Amino acid sequence: VFSHVVRAPEDPILGVTVAYNKDPSPVKLNLGVGAYRTEEGKPLVLNVVKKAERLLINDSSRVKEYLPIVGLADFNKLSAKLIFGADSPAIKENRVTTVQCLSGSGSLRVAGEFLAHHYHQCVIYIPQPTWGNHPKVFTLAGLSVKTYRYYDPTTRGLNFQGLLEDLGSAPSGAIVLLHACAHNPTGVDPTIEQWEHIRKLMRSKALLPFFDSAYQGFASGSLDADAQPVRLFVADGGECLVAQSYAKNLGLYGERVGALSIVLRSADVASRVESQLKTVIRPMYSSPPIHGASIVATILKDRNLFQEWTVELKAMADRIIRMRQQLFEALRARGTPGDWTHILKQIGMFTFTGLNSEQVAFMTKEYHVYMTSDGRISMAGLNTKMVPLLADAIHAAVMR
Ligand code: LMR
Repeated sequence: VFSHVVRAPEDPILGVTVAYNKDPSPVKLNLGVGAYRTEEGKPLVLNVVKKAERLLINDSSRVKEYLPIVGLADFNKLSAKLIFGADSPAIKENRVTTVQCLSGSGSLRVAGEFLAHHYHQCVIYIPQPTWGNHPKVFTLAGLSVKTYRYYDPTTRGLNFQGLLEDLGSAPSGAIVLLHACAHNPTGVDPTIEQWEHIRKLMRSKALLPFFDSAYQGFASGSLDADAQPVRLFVADGGECLVAQSYAKNLGLYGERVGALSIVLRSADVASRVESQLKTVIRPMYSSPPIHGASIVATILKDRNLFQEWTVELKAMADRIIRMRQQLFEALRARGTPGDWTHILKQIGMFTFTGLNSEQVAFMTKEYHVYMTSDGRISMAGLNTKMVPLLADAIHAAVMR
């Protein structure tokens, strides 16, 4: 009965890892998926995560009962505090509902389904380009996806004018997906002044802000600085949604830990919205897993562990910045044609190199360097030893 089923294409991001794993070459480099690697090219479990896990294992009162549909209460409270700030009036006034979800993707999907059922406007604007999963998540949730201009390939920076024009002509009430910081895939973020401009425009047109916050702490190394755009929108008292992921900033990728927060106008609306989020979650996966959220809650509620986390997070962010410098220098040393300063200017895990899909295919075939076909490289996957290989590959691709 299933013989008619045709093979689906590999995922454009996760499929890069599949191809990389199949490559028998002893020297190869995977810069596809945005996952942090150490200078030795190994995945990293943060020390603070290991400590939290030891505390959890030694706590004999812990059981493996089902969590409530909305997840671990402590985790939800602390996640809201992390993104909105400890003094957030919205939190104090109980105008925020936070539900634990399956990392960033799960939070986006739950929000998408809620919006499709309970919001008057089913159009969501996503930046062009954006993370490849965004349009799929929202379309399957029942929203209608449109794009707004974001990236300018000539400057390899923000197309601020285009962004303002497109949001300015979006229908009133449309949902707008915004990357809170470290835009994926471009590494291009608005300045705080530009954010303020965007906020004013969006509020004047009653556009609904929906932040995807997958990299808090990774852009600047500071959790508070990276939350500024979100906090700007919350400070004006209006509604917004935030999908938070702990995959990158706590290295909890496979634990699938994240949260969806919705900021509302009153505590009463917040509690009704939460009741509806439960009706989305229960038939989808019943309730979220307990382990990862317990790790996060243990770290966020302990002053010392929290402090330790910020140090480890800053070290990851700094290593990525060093990789930017080393790659830039290596291209300069080779005299690779073109202006590569965007490698230094772009923010967060990714560099949007400007290499086209043929150049990417060439680098993979000839140099065993793996990346997404849009020319995005994960700087977090690079290390000093591999910089020459990557620079050689880019140089040869550009010189063809
Ligand atoms: C990425 O963009 O590489 C990450 O967000 C991982 C993913 O799930 O795509």
